[in-house]
Amino acid sequence: PLHEGWRYLPLRLYKGFWFPEFILPGVLSLRHHLRPTSSDILLVSFPKSGTTWLKALVFAISTRNPELLLSRHPQDCSPNLEAFFAGPHVPDLDALPSPRQFSTHIPYSVLPKSVHDSPCRIIYLCREPKDTLVSTYHFVIGMHRPEAAPQQMPFTEAVELFCKGLSMYGPVWEHQLEYWQESQRRPDKVLFLKYEDMMADPEAIVRRMAEYMGKPFSAAEEMNGMVGEIVRLSSFEKLSGLEINKVGLWGKEFDLGHLAIKNSSFFRNGKVGDWREHFTAEMAERFDAIARDKLHQSGLTHSHSS
Ligand code: A3P
Repeated sequence: PLHEGWRYLPLRLYKGFWFPEFILPGVLSLRHHLRPTSSDILLVSFPKSGTTWLKALVFAISTRNPELLLSRHPQDCSPNLEAFFAGPHVPDLDALPSPRQFSTHIPYSVLPKSVHDSPCRIIYLCREPKDTLVSTYHFVIGMHRPEAAPQQMPFTEAVELFCKGLSMYGPVWEHQLEYWQESQRRPDKVLFLKYEDMMADPEAIVRRMAEYMGKPFSAAEEMNGMVGEIVRLSSFEKLSGLEINKVGLWGKEFDLGHLAIKNSSFFRNGKVGDWREHFTAEMAERFDAIARDKLHQSGLTHSHSS
């Protein structure tokens, strides 16, 4: 079924999750083309969980050259696989430099089996769902078509849809839970990170990521302040102020119809707890009750959730 509640972003249900209509062909095509290797890193998140930040950090850790972020939009540091494959041309993944860094929003159970079975590693970024919804709301109403009037959508309507699982790659709880459970079963396969922990102590998380990626910082790099530089040059304050991240449109390489997504729309305010500016107490309680019900006994909790 097709659902058009999110205005310019029709969603289609596939294997229990709602995919943007224009992306689903890429999700299906990917199965035939992705042959992960042991050096590949897959960056995974539910949309609007801080993927842009994750891409910047992993790129900086991998290259050890965070200055490159001054001239490159983080979205261009690791291609989104399903968007890549949704375009008119089948991309040549083998041409990408090694170690390859891909990103995807595909739920664990919908990933190609080749990813489950191969020794490639996954870094999953999880964000508190109320903040994720607020970010989704602003992102989707910010999408526009040339000459069209700005989109109107009451926030309460977005909450209704999101609670029913109706949002890009939703439901969010199942998405997070699948990766959480896999990270518990196979910690060497999935590193499960939280946006809120990254905000609280970014240097500690950067060190963890580097170790997981098999690229721990040397004593000399620690002495030189490499970790602090990576954190500084990947920060919201730094990236959102760069000209390269303020201009242009995202996704020129594939067909978005007449939809326009601004490169700048990946940077809004980058805060923990912005949901408080949008939710009433009743809305938050209803939302949290869903989380309690779905995450019950899983061990996955959301700090800063109330
Ligand atoms: P907000 O809309 O709450 O500000 P994604 O990259 O998955 O699309 O997620 C976008 C969210 O991450 C936005 O959240 C955006 O502001 C935030 N973000 C982008 N870059 C960031 C960074 N360097 N540090 C922290 N948050 C960042």
